[in-house]
Amino acid sequence: CRGGGSSGGGGGAGSADVAGQGLLGSIRGLFTAAISKAFPELGHVEAALGKCAQYKHGDFQCNSPMSLYPLLKARGGGGVAKPHDVARAIIAALPPSPLVESTSVAGPGFINVRLRPTFISDAVRALARDGPAPPPLPANRKLKIAVDFSSPNIAKEMHVGHLRSTIIGDTICRILEFAGHAVLRVNHVGDWGTQFGMLINHMKTAYPDFLTHPPNLTDLTTFYKGAKQAFDESEEFKDVSRKTVVKLQSGDAECLQVWKLLCEISRGEFQKVYDRLGVRLEECGESFYNKMIPGTLDKMEAKGLLKMNEKGLLKVEGGATVCMLDGFTYPLIVRKSDGGYGYDSTDMTAVDYRLNTLGCDWVIYVTDAGQRSHFDMVFERSHFDMVFELLGVDDPVADRDRGAAKACGWLQDASAQRLEHVGFGVVQGEDGKRFKSRSGDTVRLVDLLDEAVKRMHATLVERVASGKSPLSPEKVDEAAAAIGYGAVKYFDLRQHPATNYVFSYDRMLDTRGNTAVYLQFAHARLCSILRKAADEQGARVPDLLASGVPITLAHDAERALAFELMQARGAVANACRPLTIEHNSRACVVLRLDDTGAQRSARSGVELTRLQPRKLQCVYFTDVVEAASAHPQPRDKHASLDFTDVVQDFLRDLLPNRLCEYLYQLSTRFTDFVTNCHVLHSAERDSRLLLCEATGAVMRKVMELLGLTPLYQI
Ligand code: ARG
Repeated sequence: CRGGGSSGGGGGAGSADVAGQGLLGSIRGLFTAAISKAFPELGHVEAALGKCAQYKHGDFQCNSPMSLYPLLKARGGGGVAKPHDVARAIIAALPPSPLVESTSVAGPGFINVRLRPTFISDAVRALARDGPAPPPLPANRKLKIAVDFSSPNIAKEMHVGHLRSTIIGDTICRILEFAGHAVLRVNHVGDWGTQFGMLINHMKTAYPDFLTHPPNLTDLTTFYKGAKQAFDESEEFKDVSRKTVVKLQSGDAECLQVWKLLCEISRGEFQKVYDRLGVRLEECGESFYNKMIPGTLDKMEAKGLLKMNEKGLLKVEGGATVCMLDGFTYPLIVRKSDGGYGYDSTDMTAVDYRLNTLGCDWVIYVTDAGQRSHFDMVFERSHFDMVFELLGVDDPVADRDRGAAKACGWLQDASAQRLEHVGFGVVQGEDGKRFKSRSGDTVRLVDLLDEAVKRMHATLVERVASGKSPLSPEKVDEAAAAIGYGAVKYFDLRQHPATNYVFSYDRMLDTRGNTAVYLQFAHARLCSILRKAADEQGARVPDLLASGVPITLAHDAERALAFELMQARGAVANACRPLTIEHNSRACVVLRLDDTGAQRSARSGVELTRLQPRKLQCVYFTDVVEAASAHPQPRDKHASLDFTDVVQDFLRDLLPNRLCEYLYQLSTRFTDFVTNCHVLHSAERDSRLLLCEATGAVMRKVMELLGLTPLYQI
């Protein structure tokens, strides 16, 4: 795969070109411009560009000549006899750039691109000096973004679903904050609603002197179960409970007192989980919106969205006020027949408040994937929007109904305000069923987290005992907490959010796999090299930076690591094979039908909307969890990302797993590097120390964004 070299030309190396578009975007831009110049008759064609599969051939690869060749032939030749001619014409038209060292035509006609080494080493030096910087703000504007996450329910135990929401939501916030936006971390706790009638009633009957002697309810689950049992067993209790809800909602002092007490106890329990995870949240629960609900319902009424449900219709009680939207089989229930409000009306009001009162540019909701329909109804999208977006065509049905917020006229300009649901899959036990403790109860999150720390602690104590680790007992505690909690987080984040996963301590604490443990060890190893250089050899990074030591990158593993630090995303996956494309929690499969219109890869549980034979077809999954696990995302071998690309992609897709993938790949490159290249006793020591420093800076930043506390010594 070697071809004639040709210089890309251009002035001195600099990172200005890549600012904001990532490296891949910059190189793609060059080739896109070259294609337009060489073949203006084709109009605008975006260059197909990816990372070279093998380092020895080049850094990037442009595959456009092969796809352009038949187009040119069809138009009468365009003066080219084979794809190689197309490639050469593109190369000749390449604008000068400080990024490109050389290009060569190879194989059936693709173009290999080598980056200018000084460009790479300058980038490494900048990283070693300043660490990674966030991408520039879009249109130079800081967005106001509310992230609604964690959001457990008062008086009930937080379960693993809330743990996922807490972990994913926190990472989303961290990245948005890093990108420079104003982020509201909203804990939309379930602190209102019908369950409180039953709970308050139970408090009054079971603990009559609760005001003077408040019960010590560390475990509200037992209390909740007691209340539920009384509710199920006695008609009278039920009746009183219903009346109690009305009393609470109309502001009865005693009811409010019990309510406050229950909220406080729960809050204390939730906080224990947040403290362990190092997650910050601001509570603004369901009760906050109660007074505003009638105002929001008036707005819906004014748009003609509300109607009274007739008896027996839609499995909703007669006399309830509902909002029925086209394309949905179930309505939003905005007012129950007794006048009470519930989850739907609260969410409509919260959306109204967030968009219209707070003026948020973007609101992100992180809950289990099962709530997707609920949010589709509340938000703005029709079920079909994503499919058409994906195909790049307009929805042929112009007046298709959208979610309620859109129907209320709140989201007129789709580019100005954005509502998004990030839905996640189920956490399973080793038996593949919903995750439970041995006794069959839901697992207490505090216990679950502590168990990970306990196991890690035992491993570290063993390392110290066998002389592998110099840590003091306090440092062992610190490291066990950082790795243990981090391992639970990372194990969750490295999955695509929509997938289900099996909770396994063994797998999340594995020292060799793609785990937080491996990452922490890699980082600590890196730090130990830098420490030894400074302590034993007097080679300190700040001095090396100040004295302008050159970064040489001679060895393959060294260059591969440096390139990883700034590498770009590869080729877009081939749309002809079944391809799973996730858009937040929605999964869509695009596949090509054969001539007869029969689908080529039918799968059970998948509904196919047939359009035309031989066209790309869209399959829309109603059950996203099933979809995502039925089609695990193909690992694109070119899919490794430059840090700016990673962050920018994240701002579009909100997929933390991409960040994990990047971090893991970077760490394995680092491991390869230190396995193949000596640092401390080599002639290239100083250059390599700077490479270590840059790698450490990027690793720490990504770890921080994932909520991991980096360790410097283990
Ligand atoms: N409390 C809900 C639950 O436990 C989550 C609330 C999510 N936020 C919202 N605005 N609906 O599932």
